[in-house]
Amino acid sequence: MVLLEKNMRTKDTNGEDKEKVRLYKKEGGTIQIISFPDENIEKGDYLLIEDRKLGKSLIVQVVEIRFVNVPGILEEILRECTYNDNFLDGETLDPFEITSHITLIKDARVLHCKIRASFENGKLVNDISWIPSRIHSKIVKLPISKLFSIAKISGNYPIYIGDTKENSQLFIDAESLDGRLNIITGKKETGKSHLSKLLVLNLIHYGATVVVLDLNGEYAGLGLNLDGTPNEYANKIHVLTPGQNFKIMLKQINLRVMLNILLNALRLPGTSAREFRRIWRFLRERNELSLKALGEAMRNWKCNQHIRDALFSRYYALLNSGFFTDNPEEASPFEEYFEKIKRNGGVLIINMQNISTMDRQIVVEYILGKLVELLSNWYLRSVFLFAEEAHLYLRETYWDDVVTRMRHYGIFTTFITNQPDSIKESIYRQADNIFLFNFTNERDLETVSRASRADSETIKSIARELPPQHCLLLGKIVKDFPTVVKVRTLNVQTKGQTRYFFKFLSQNLKT
Ligand SMILES: Nc1ncnc2c1ncn2[C@@H]1O[C@H](COP(=O)(O)OP(=O)(O)O)[C@@H](O)[C@H]1O
Ligand SMILES: [Mg+2]
Repeated sequence: MVLLEKNMRTKDTNGEDKEKVRLYKKEGGTIQIISFPDENIEKGDYLLIEDRKLGKSLIVQVVEIRFVNVPGILEEILRECTYNDNFLDGETLDPFEITSHITLIKDARVLHCKIRASFENGKLVNDISWIPSRIHSKIVKLPISKLFSIAKISGNYPIYIGDTKENSQLFIDAESLDGRLNIITGKKETGKSHLSKLLVLNLIHYGATVVVLDLNGEYAGLGLNLDGTPNEYANKIHVLTPGQNFKIMLKQINLRVMLNILLNALRLPGTSAREFRRIWRFLRERNELSLKALGEAMRNWKCNQHIRDALFSRYYALLNSGFFTDNPEEASPFEEYFEKIKRNGGVLIINMQNISTMDRQIVVEYILGKLVELLSNWYLRSVFLFAEEAHLYLRETYWDDVVTRMRHYGIFTTFITNQPDSIKESIYRQADNIFLFNFTNERDLETVSRASRADSETIKSIARELPPQHCLLLGKIVKDFPTVVKVRTLNVQTKGQTRYFFKFLSQNLKT
C-alpha cells in the first residue's frame, strides 16, 4: 500500500528510513499518538497504524487534538514571554541550539484517536484488542477514498453525496437506506433540507417510491433546474397541496383511518367515537357516505347532547380543513398518484405550507393510514417517507408507531429536524443512520450523542466544529466509520423557506 507520508518518517544515521516512535498510549478503544503541526492532521482524519512485525494494522480516527502536556512547559512559555521583552534589541544566545527543539516540543500535539477496526490480510476484522508495537509500527494517513474502498462502502447503487476534505467524491449506497430509519439533524440553515432533497432525487433515480411531508413548501422545485427548465425527474415529481389539488371524498377513506383522524388529530373522546362509528356504518351500508349526509345524520342521530356537540365540533373541523369534498371532480384519489410513480419511481410531495397544525394532523393521519393500507395489500412494495419537523404534525406517542409498526409494513422513515430533543431517545437508539450537521448548543449535542451508534466523544467533538453544508455521516451508510463530507450542490430550485421582512422591503424599494 502506498500510503506513506514522508513527514511521518525520519532518516537514521545511515540515511535509511526509520519510523519515529509516535505511539504514546493505548487505553481500551482509544489510542494516543504524538504529532507535529506540519503534519496537518485534523479532527475526523483516519490513520493507519501498521505493525510490520505482526503484519496487521489498526484503523483509527482522530477525534481530539491537544497540546502535549510536558512538565514545565507553562514555566518555559512564561519565561520566554518576559525574556523576549528584554531581548528586543539584543541577540539570543543559544550555544547548544536547543531553542528549535524546545519550540518543536512546545508545539507538539497528542492526537486522541478512536480505534475503528483492525485490518488483516486485506480484510477488516473486529478484534481491536491487540496493541501495535511502538517500535515497529508505521503510522500513515488513510484517505477517506481508500478507507471506503477497504470497507466496501459505495455498493451497487451509489449516491454521490459530496466531497471529502481530500477532494475525492464520496458515495454512499442507496441500499444502506433501504429498510432503515434515518435522522437528519443539525441547527437551522446548515443544509439539512438540501441533503434530504439530494437523497430524494437519488432514490427516485433508482426507481424508489418516496413521500415527502414538506412543511415549508420547499420541495416543489425539485423537478426544475435553476434556470426554470424541467429536469430529467420532472415527470416523477408530484406536488400535492391539501385543500387545493389534493382533496378526498369520504368514500375513499376507510373507517379506521377516519377514526384515527378523529381520535388523534381532533381528540374526540372514546364514547363519542363509538357513536361516530355507528353513524359511519349506517351511512356506508346505504352507500351514502358524504359530508352532507354525515352532517344530516349527526343532526338526526339519537344520542346524548354532549356527544352530539362533540361530534359536530369535529365535523366542522373536517369541513373547515378543506381537505374533504363531495364533488368527484375535485377529488384526487391518492392511489392514482401511486399508480404513476410505483413502477419507475417518483415522489409525492405533500405541501403543508400555510396549513394549520390541526389540518396538517388530519392530512398526515390520512396519508399514513392510506400508506399502511396500500402496503399491507401489496399494492405498494415499500415507501421512503421523508418527514420535516415531524413533531409539528405528529403526536409524540406516534413516533414509536411510525418507526416500528410502519417499518414492518415497508415505510422507511427519514426524520429531518433542527430540534433533536423532539425525537425520543428510543428513536435515536433505533436509528440506523444519522446525518449530523453542526450543533453548537451543548444540550442538542448531548441529545444526539447519547443514543446514537457512534460514541458520544466523536460526535460532540466533530459536530461542534462542522462548517455549514458539512455533514458527519454515522451508521450503516458508512459501515460505522464516522465520516465528514461537504454536501454537494444541486442544480435544482430549492425554494427559500424563510420569508424575510427586510429583504422584501429593500426589493420593493428598488422597484
Ligand atoms: N451543500 C450545499 N450546497 C449549496 N447550497 C446549499 C447546500 N446546503 C444548503 N445549501 C443552501 O443553504 C440554505 C440553507 O439550507 P437548508 O437545507 O434549507 O438548511 P436547513 O434545512 O438545515 O435549515 C439553502 O438556501 C440551501 O439551498
Ligand atoms: Mg430545512
